[in-house]
Amino acid sequence: MDKPKVVLGVSGGIAAYKACELLRRLTESGHDVRVVPTESALQFVGEATWAALSGHPARTQVWGDVHEVPHVRIGQEADLVVVAPATADLLAKAAHGLAGDLLTNTLLTARCPVVFAPAMHTEMWEHPATQENVATLRRRGAVVVEPAVGRLTGVDTGKGRLPEPEELFEVCRRVLARGAAATAADLAGRHVVISAGGTREPLDPVRYLGNRSSGKQGYALARTAVARGARVTLVAANTGLPDPAGADVVRVGTAVQLREAVLKAAADADAVVMAAAVADFRPARYAEGKIKKREGQEPEPVALVRNPDVLAELSADRARPGQVVVGFAAETDDVLANGRAKLARKGCDLLVVNEVGETRTFGAEDTEAVVLAADGTETPVPHGPKEALADTVWDLVAARLGRG
Ligand code: CTP
Repeated sequence: MDKPKVVLGVSGGIAAYKACELLRRLTESGHDVRVVPTESALQFVGEATWAALSGHPARTQVWGDVHEVPHVRIGQEADLVVVAPATADLLAKAAHGLAGDLLTNTLLTARCPVVFAPAMHTEMWEHPATQENVATLRRRGAVVVEPAVGRLTGVDTGKGRLPEPEELFEVCRRVLARGAAATAADLAGRHVVISAGGTREPLDPVRYLGNRSSGKQGYALARTAVARGARVTLVAANTGLPDPAGADVVRVGTAVQLREAVLKAAADADAVVMAAAVADFRPARYAEGKIKKREGQEPEPVALVRNPDVLAELSADRARPGQVVVGFAAETDDVLANGRAKLARKGCDLLVVNEVGETRTFGAEDTEAVVLAADGTETPVPHGPKEALADTVWDLVAARLGRG
């Protein structure tokens, strides 16, 4: 089988050096990559580096190998075009259909999915000109990955960093896997909120009541939503996983903190997916100092109080009409019957029901589930990677948003 063909466009920003690592990951995982830099990208990383790492010449203009008509061919033959970093200038040219060099020609001839990973100073990113260009590209079906927040060139920090290459690679991998479906990013223009991980309810400064949730399912939901074009807020409770490219990650510890973060983000969200394992109870009393054992004395029992039920609250009090609310249910017995009862009790639109045990689902890479819908339909998801379940959830969410 032919290797999937990827065009890596590189425009002129300091983050061009990170594109070398993205290129390596793409070639090492079996992709045939052509690098198409802009003239100014070569100010940051030279032609020799791109050619050596990709195994192809890296031309910037349409005038080399003219008999092969590269300005048309490279785009036509690609299975994916990813531009990383995409500067404000490149985004403007792409949004307006300019074709002054090989990269912009390639963008006009490509009929495959296109991913832009912008990187620039915060002011340039926030400028209405850039934001309008990004909105135009998204409306046309491209995936524009939100820049990360952090250290920029020089002493500045803010939004505008290129996400880490391994996370950009994950976006490319998912977009490629979706194939032709990815040319119309079906969650483009949508804001989705996902909670992930497990809350910890402190007993004293060193101890807590917690659960075994790893956060992997919630992160898979975030990564797949980014690859389908959504703006993603990921409310992460005690996870040790790398931030997905393009997601705005809000870190929380307890159920009360999670509720606050989710409700705030849900105010303008099209969909909220509660994948987090939220503790139903918390210790009634928090000991300011570490609880000590006392010689000859039995320990005090731990009194618990109820935590707010975030899913029930979101479902009962929708922040906007047509907002889709999705819950997860981890059950050990009578899985489907308990799932149906829980769907009705919580009032959400969809409930993903999976069977859990010590080694099933928690921390595992694979899962198996049934998605129950309030309209009575059931969608079984066979045993497979958590991102396959995530994609099924987004298929069902997108169908409901489309009807709204
Ligand atoms: N959930 C929530 N707030 C809580 C508890 C749970 O939002 N305080 C959400 C979870 O994120 C998940 C769903 O509710 O989406 C299922 O939670 P679960 O604890 O399994 O359901 P319960 O109604 O608590 O049922 P039970 O403990 O009896 O199984």
